[in-house]
Amino acid sequence: MSQLRYPLGECCDLNRKYEMEELIIQGETKQERYEALLPQIAAVVEDEADLIANMANVAAMLHETFGFWWTGFYRVVGEELVLGPFQGPMACTRIRKGRGVCGTAWAEEETQVVPDVEKFPGHIACSSASRSEIVVPVWKEGIVIAVLDIDSAQLATFDETDRRYLEQIVRLL
Ligand code: SME
Repeated sequence: MSQLRYPLGECCDLNRKYEMEELIIQGETKQERYEALLPQIAAVVEDEADLIANMANVAAMLHETFGFWWTGFYRVVGEELVLGPFQGPMACTRIRKGRGVCGTAWAEEETQVVPDVEKFPGHIACSSASRSEIVVPVWKEGIVIAVLDIDSAQLATFDETDRRYLEQIVRLL
């Protein structure tokens, strides 16, 4: 099922089996790309228990596959979201509950699909190049522990297909 290639074979890592992985990006449509990506993410995540390490690889794999503007995680720490692993330009480090698209996804415990960030009341502009956004809550044992935030430099990049697949992807974490 895994589509990962292991060009460098095993390498040393505290006696654990550890392989170098290379992402295979395939598919014409968004749906085909997500379908190709899902088993690769599952393969990477299933052998690693560390959440931060898995968030880092998921952000990198999504970012590389789709060429988003910014792809990353904010973790729930107390009453705030705190910046986690990401790919893209530097970003705001802390977001309060209910603030911006990320804080809204956390407070409402619901994925937010924003076709035009300028029309989202309270949107936090970490980057002026961001035009549309999707934020997906990450659940563990019935509570939201993080959000996956993806920004696009184009309007209306995200739709129900993204919502469906990204919600599936964060369940693998
Ligand atoms: N735009 C987000 C802030 C995070 S950055 O996009 C990386 C928001 O409104 O919550």
